[in-house]
Amino acid sequence: MVTEKTMLEQPAEAPAARDRALYVETYGCQMNKADSELITGLLAREGYRVTDRVDRADVILVNTCAIRENAEQRVLGRMSELNRFKTANPGLILGLCGCMSQHLGDRIIEKAPYIDLVAGPDSYRRLPAMLRALDTEDEPALNLAWDRAEHYLDIDPVREAGVNGWVTIMRGCDKMCTFCIVPFVRGRERSTPHGEVIRQIERLAAEGYREVTLLGQTVNKYRDGDVEFADLLSRAAEIDGIERIRFTSPHPAHFPDRLIEVMAASPKICPHTHLPLQSGASTTLSRMRRDYTPETFLDVVHRLRERIPRITLTTDVIVGFCGETEEEFEATREMMRTVQFDSAFMFKYSPRPGTASHKRLSDDVPEEVKARRLTAVIEMQKSISDTRNRAYRGQVVHVLVEGRSRRDADRLFGKTDTFKTVVFPMLEGVVSNAIVPVRVNGSTPFTLFGDVVKSA
Ligand code: 5AD
Repeated sequence: MVTEKTMLEQPAEAPAARDRALYVETYGCQMNKADSELITGLLAREGYRVTDRVDRADVILVNTCAIRENAEQRVLGRMSELNRFKTANPGLILGLCGCMSQHLGDRIIEKAPYIDLVAGPDSYRRLPAMLRALDTEDEPALNLAWDRAEHYLDIDPVREAGVNGWVTIMRGCDKMCTFCIVPFVRGRERSTPHGEVIRQIERLAAEGYREVTLLGQTVNKYRDGDVEFADLLSRAAEIDGIERIRFTSPHPAHFPDRLIEVMAASPKICPHTHLPLQSGASTTLSRMRRDYTPETFLDVVHRLRERIPRITLTTDVIVGFCGETEEEFEATREMMRTVQFDSAFMFKYSPRPGTASHKRLSDDVPEEVKARRLTAVIEMQKSISDTRNRAYRGQVVHVLVEGRSRRDADRLFGKTDTFKTVVFPMLEGVVSNAIVPVRVNGSTPFTLFGDVVKSA
């Protein structure tokens, strides 16, 4: 029993969590953005005040990405910049969360001894205790434990204001592509129970979100008992209030006809798929251990386009992977020409310690060859994107308005269901989260421009 006496005997209280301002900065993919919302939700529940002013923060958490080496370099640079805030606020806690923490482990403290806390993607639930421990201990708080059972089920994320709600439906990855660090930093694959996914989408709908994006490293491999990804999508499409459903990132080896049928059957499921190609050469794909060939990849493309003619396809491409010959690179270019992706993220291969390609293959494509190949695919894709966007000119598209254009405050921007960004002049009554018809009258490889079609 807590009596007044025993309470008086307690040591002096550390500053309560509610007096502390939390600032979270995010690098990397959508999963990381969703994780930051989770971290914020978890610490808000403990009484931390969320701030968007880094200079006013008592706790700064940087949620990091380890996918390529330059991502890590950027974060390390940023950490040393953030360290400067400790001069004005010596009690400031500087923490590193996410994939890079898991990848570098305690070596990060050697590189940057001013970092107070390091937490991996399965350790967020321990953040409140780790922060408390820092009140009484001088040592940095470190937790990189794996937890296959961790789904963060009871935590409601605090979402950034916006029109799209992220819902993480699976964590981790079992694919083991040889170049990829994700399985080593995010652990084994696990699907969130479907009831919980539906609850989260219903909650988003009740909060007024019209669009949700289902997230997972290999999102289309989702399975909870008998419920497969296609089933989950059709259940999500039944939820009133949600008008657009997206998902990312699917793996090209997991597109059964049934999934394509469900996508084709529901107008709520957006006609856009991110289909990471990585390479167009069967030999490179097999060194990458991608589980598909150029032929089976093209088969998915054809089946998607046949059933969903309006569908747009985006992709990821890696150039200069271990042993990539000129012929293999040409096969990638050929594939990109054949498929005509709407847009692509293109990267030079960057060896990641711990991965199979780093251990067993040689990073033998010279830097200047990687650079030349990267420029070549970027230039080619730019022209393909330009052609594909030009085809929208004259069409009326339906845009879910996200807000003011970053470049021009007098214009609004939003996205089509096909994931094209559209910029158009502001109009009275057109607000964020509205879906408006816009006639496209111009385009670049990256953006469509137009005017709202006024109803008669
Ligand atoms: N080097 C370069 N690009 C990589 N990607 C993943 N790992 C690496 C790596 N080691 C790219 C892939 C993936 C995207 C998210 O990042 O194209 O689809």
